[in-house]
Amino acid sequence: MTGSVRFVLGGRVVEVRDADPTTTVLQWLRAHGRPGTKEGCAEGDCGACTVVLGDLTPNGKIRYRAVNACILFLPMIDGKLLLTVEDLASEDGELHPVQKAMVVKHGSQCGFCTPGFAMALFALYHNDRNPDDDAIHDALAGNLCRCTGYRPILDAARAMTAEGNEDRFDRAEAGIVALLESVRREGTVSVSGAGKAFYAPRTVDELAKLAAEHSDATLVAGATDVGLWVTKQGRRLPTLIHLAEVAELHRIEESDGQLEIGRLEVGAAVTYTELLPVLQRRIPELAELVSRIGAAQVRNSGTLGGNVANGSPIGDSMPALLALGASLALNHGGTRREVPLDRFYHGYRKSDLKPGELVERVLIPIPKDGQRFATWKVSKRRDQDISAVCAAFLLTLDEGGKVAELRTGYGGVAAIPARAKALEAALVGQPWTAEAVAAAMPVLDQDFQPITDMRASDRYRALVAKNLLMRFYLHTTGAEAPSLEAAHG
Ligand SMILES: Cc1cc2nc3c(=O)[nH]c(=O)nc-3n(C[C@H](O)[C@H](O)[C@H](O)COP(=O)(O)OP(=O)(O)OC[C@H]3O[C@@H](n4cnc5c(N)ncnc54)[C@H](O)[C@@H]3O)c2cc1C
Ligand code: FES
Ligand code: FES
Repeated sequence: MTGSVRFVLGGRVVEVRDADPTTTVLQWLRAHGRPGTKEGCAEGDCGACTVVLGDLTPNGKIRYRAVNACILFLPMIDGKLLLTVEDLASEDGELHPVQKAMVVKHGSQCGFCTPGFAMALFALYHNDRNPDDDAIHDALAGNLCRCTGYRPILDAARAMTAEGNEDRFDRAEAGIVALLESVRREGTVSVSGAGKAFYAPRTVDELAKLAAEHSDATLVAGATDVGLWVTKQGRRLPTLIHLAEVAELHRIEESDGQLEIGRLEVGAAVTYTELLPVLQRRIPELAELVSRIGAAQVRNSGTLGGNVANGSPIGDSMPALLALGASLALNHGGTRREVPLDRFYHGYRKSDLKPGELVERVLIPIPKDGQRFATWKVSKRRDQDISAVCAAFLLTLDEGGKVAELRTGYGGVAAIPARAKALEAALVGQPWTAEAVAAAMPVLDQDFQPITDMRASDRYRALVAKNLLMRFYLHTTGAEAPSLEAAHG
């Protein structure tokens, strides 16, 4: 038992003992003299609690990423640099360039959201010194402000490098690296407090062993789902096993598909942010979807493995993974098996995972030449919103232009993310024409009977599910949209 959580804060090493492992970083900060970081929603939505974590990269540099402190458990920052708004200005009071830009551009009014924006801007400053407007919007989409109307904050983002391209954190990098090295650990971190235990192993074998030994433990990757179980549902989680410190699980293997089907093997600790550049190269349509999951803070922590294991019927990655024919590499105490995703879910939030078993990797076939793939998420807002309906399609045509195979994946229309098997069967052998697609659309009613909830009505969902199929047809052919009569009978 290492017994303590150790991290670097404000230029010094902090060691915390006996804390409840489900204490959030936000709670800890506010109780320990750092009230700058605010609580707005306590569920990862508003960005008021944004802090920046710094990790040592293998090349001895520091990688900065903005995260939501309200859903991050304190032991998850062991070995990391934690920066809050109190750290930005220098000791003599000189503001950081992002703070100066916020002042000069009038980016703050009541000020409640400002520390969160400042930290999101700080992370952007350290990841992109010349951000275009898309990058700025992306970096700030997870921060809400009720006062400014955002324009002045966007102006601040555009102006933050006006005075130069280096800040005091760049100048002090060697010192920060040395501090981080001083808190680096080799073996499993294990801490306990308030009758709860937290483990962060460093190897897959140790992780699988711990998970099998503590089969009632909660596995935690990014905690962007699990965090809310504590902050919103008040659940007591007696044992947590954190997998994001297993370096092997941050790997993405790419096979080129010369001899076999090309595929990506995505380790369970790979965050969406880490995954995006690979997806942009290999499966750009999926990258587009992943760039719409939550906002930067969520994508900096959340994982594909967590999305799939959580098994929400409105999880965004599963429809695409189902259509692509993905499978999961599972590990139970060192014994491995592979399960196709379309056989993984048995009912609402019920999966094939046995107690003590974990998802080690998500295996994603890359569409072959000639196959067409697309996926769309329909939600009320572009960013930081949950799908009403999500759909994905993978199409293979034969030489005569008929459907040789269609694989689909739908979310938001059933208790589990699922393929539309009746629809797939109805289209196989049909010509890939607007008429055949329109004729097949009603078959979706055999596959799914969606429900009404706060996000959408049953009728809306059923209609959107069908229209997304037509959208896919139009996308693959570049054809004009058919008349409503033709599409809906
Ligand atoms: C503000 C906000 C916005 C969000 N927006 C979206 C969105 O747009 N689309 C979307 O789909 N989701 C969204 N989510 C949900 C969440 O971010 C995703 O489901 C994410 O992929 C979860 O990954 P994680 O690593 O944080 O999982 P965690 O919270 O760590 O874990 C989730 C579940 O999976 C289990 N688990 C995690 N890893 C493994 C593993 N390797 N093996 C077995 N079990 C495991 C955990 O025990 C838990 O049951 C959002 C969440 C927040 C807070
Ligand atoms: S308090 Fe709203 S995102 Fe954390
Ligand atoms: S300045 Fe008031 S909430 Fe943003």
